[in-house]
Amino acid sequence: MNLELAGRAVLISGAAQGIGAATARAFAAEGARVALVDRDEAAGRALAAELAGSIFIPADLTDDGACERAVAETVRTFGRLDILVNNAGVNDAVPLSASPAEFLGSLRRNLLHVFALTHFATPHLIAARGAIVSVSSKVAVTGQGSTSGYAAAKGAINALTREWALALAPQGVRVNAVVPAECDTEQYRRWFATQPDPAAARAEIAGRVPLGHRLTTPAELADAIVWLASPRASHVTGQLLFVDGGYTHLDRAATGGAAHWG
Ligand SMILES: NC(=O)c1ccc[n+]([C@@H]2O[C@H](COP(=O)([O-])OP(=O)(O)OC[C@H]3O[C@@H](n4cnc5c(N)ncnc54)[C@H](O)[C@@H]3O)[C@@H](O)[C@H]2O)c1
Repeated sequence: MNLELAGRAVLISGAAQGIGAATARAFAAEGARVALVDRDEAAGRALAAELAGSIFIPADLTDDGACERAVAETVRTFGRLDILVNNAGVNDAVPLSASPAEFLGSLRRNLLHVFALTHFATPHLIAARGAIVSVSSKVAVTGQGSTSGYAAAKGAINALTREWALALAPQGVRVNAVVPAECDTEQYRRWFATQPDPAAARAEIAGRVPLGHRLTTPAELADAIVWLASPRASHVTGQLLFVDGGYTHLDRAATGGAAHWG
């Protein structure tokens, strides 16, 4: 299938590592030009050097001005913006017992830049009749019990996917989200490393995933994001696509231990 992405201009937030980096690679493989926006300068510059037609824009997205500048620099470089991927985020474990200021800080790390980037990108996306794909989390629908700020931010991303799909339908801009559960990224490996037995923790979590008893790969998320953003998904909007090996929706009784043998 030709995804009709050659020459399209894409901005990806949090593109230096993990799902964002895999998505940048997948767009570049389709001939798109990618603006990699990230605060990790070393990893971002290294990836931009690897991907023909891409640029790296250093930015800490907790700063609204940095979001505005990232969009402006993308448009200045490529002359257009067709696709926005709101990917940056961190499960920062700000619980109910944290202060209101800490909760707001989590929203700044996980949600406010999604609004800011989308706000500043929208006129360009309308001009291109483009698309937005945001990266949510299963925490938005399952909860986690220890991460109020992140859950609120990802729940808001789900709500805004529907809200913006309606707001921008008249202008032909499609808005969708992918919802990962357990994806094998740098962020997740850092968390495994904090566990008393990282290999056992990883095996236990992988064992709960119905399809293949393994973590999702970043490339599997990237493939879904690239398709949703492409003109080949031309009548798909307002969707939350769970790319999670069935983790979120399938029967929990069938996901652990030896239950799947019975
Ligand atoms: N890995 C999983 O299992 C999983 C599960 C559910 C949701 N997600 C979501 O997927 C997205 C990507 O996660 P990942 O696992 O690839 O993470 P990652 O830590 O491996 O990569 C995230 C990238 O975003 C950048 N970044 C984060 N905050 C930033 C900021 N404020 N300014 C600039 N750059 C910033 C980081 O520098 C990094 O390069 C996140 O929104 C995350 O919440 C991941």
